[in-house]
Amino acid sequence: AAAPVTATLQADKPGPVYDKRIFTQFAEHLGNGIYGGLWVGNDKKIPNTRGFRNDVVGALKRLGVPVIRWPGGCFADEYHWREGIGAKAKRPVKINTHWGGVTEPNTVGTHEFMDLTDQIGAEAYIAGNVGNGSPQEMAEWVEYMTSPAGTLADERARNGHKAPWKVPYFGVGNELWGCGGNMRPEYAADLTKRYATFIKAPAGTRILKIAAGANVDDYKWTETMMREAIGQIDAVSLHYYTIPGNWPPRASPTEFDEAAWAETLAGAWKMDELITKHSAIMDKYDPQKRIWLAVDEWGTWFAQDPGTQPGFLRQQNTLRDALVAAIHLNVFAKHAERVKLTAIAQMVNVLQAMILTDGSKMVLTPTYHVFEMYKPYMDGTVLPLEIKSPWYNKDQWTMPQVSASAVRGKDGLVHVALANADPDKPVTLSVALTGVSAGSVAGRILTAPAMNARNDFGVAEAVTPVAFNGAQVQGNMLTVTLPAKSVVMLDLR
Ligand code: AHR
Repeated sequence: AAAPVTATLQADKPGPVYDKRIFTQFAEHLGNGIYGGLWVGNDKKIPNTRGFRNDVVGALKRLGVPVIRWPGGCFADEYHWREGIGAKAKRPVKINTHWGGVTEPNTVGTHEFMDLTDQIGAEAYIAGNVGNGSPQEMAEWVEYMTSPAGTLADERARNGHKAPWKVPYFGVGNELWGCGGNMRPEYAADLTKRYATFIKAPAGTRILKIAAGANVDDYKWTETMMREAIGQIDAVSLHYYTIPGNWPPRASPTEFDEAAWAETLAGAWKMDELITKHSAIMDKYDPQKRIWLAVDEWGTWFAQDPGTQPGFLRQQNTLRDALVAAIHLNVFAKHAERVKLTAIAQMVNVLQAMILTDGSKMVLTPTYHVFEMYKPYMDGTVLPLEIKSPWYNKDQWTMPQVSASAVRGKDGLVHVALANADPDKPVTLSVALTGVSAGSVAGRILTAPAMNARNDFGVAEAVTPVAFNGAQVQGNMLTVTLPAKSVVMLDLR
């Protein structure tokens, strides 16, 4: 057997908080992300509460979803909030031009979305329309949602909600470099300043303004937004999807070989480089790290499942997606000082989803289980964990075999997350501990015999967390043998 890999974990050197908003979810009017996946209206066959299906809401509650971003995505920059309030029968039916050209009934609007956040226990992150809306329309939406008094508050009350809602996060458009208006960064920064000026929180409340940030490695965008708009914003976003091959995504979510596995996981690791470089630019303008880097769209993007409606971005989710999620969540720990909010795309039925539905049926994906395993990370304190990981190589794809992070949770325990990217080889780690005297270690593992194992409708879950017995602690030494292609979460007691 190979010699154990050495590592150190310093529990006596607490770092930044691992913000629970790193587990934010994204729900766009796209495919069955809202309609069918969350909203079933009056459908008597699918148990629901005021239109939102109980099974999906229940599963999301168990995840402790902290924040939900809505209504887009690209959809946000052509969404007119007034079309989604008032009597449902009178709401206009529009065409969802971005996503399949299907009709958008506007049945789920502001009141319904806010009800969803209440049912799940999440905060609202509203994405405003810069693309084809006006600053006045955006300002009035904010006033409609948040104001305790005035004509718009009265209208809100007549529509069923007297009390103002909290809108802690507001996005100043989305992807202004692309579907949000194909702008130059200079123009986008100017518009961001203009629109953000009119996003006003009522006295005693706060709305964090999130600027539409860069695509992948567009560092000029981050530079320009920081230089020009820093006075008006609280965060800059970053969008990066893990896409094996070139755009548009053509790789199958389920039928792949080891090279595609490795390419995908290497793609997930790229997030580390992207955050490092965008953060370095932000540091120049904001050394105090007041402005967040909000990675509010990330995750895998594959070809759609065969037979699904074009433009719906419906993809199955496998053990490979679980590894992608774990690598991201570990990378975010490294950058926790700057990265306070991230949103995987998307919550239900779209891209790297937590949950897939088929009529009245629902499955929890491997990605859901990773999020559930990482729950103790929410608002924990990041601990320095150094691992001299061997490299995992396949063809031209290369990455550390082990991705890892550690936090001291709010529960007082030290939690260690580990992922082994090698689909064939286990790896043993010897972790020297300081600042923690653990008497025992317990844990859970997510793995499966096949790289493309998945959870399907009507059968027992093939990828589900089970108790993990591969770790021992003795004195200040933790020894772990990670099976091939696995995600492990340990709790030191
Ligand atoms: O998540 C799908 C789409 O990806 C979003 O609408 C857009 O912001 C991004 O291009």
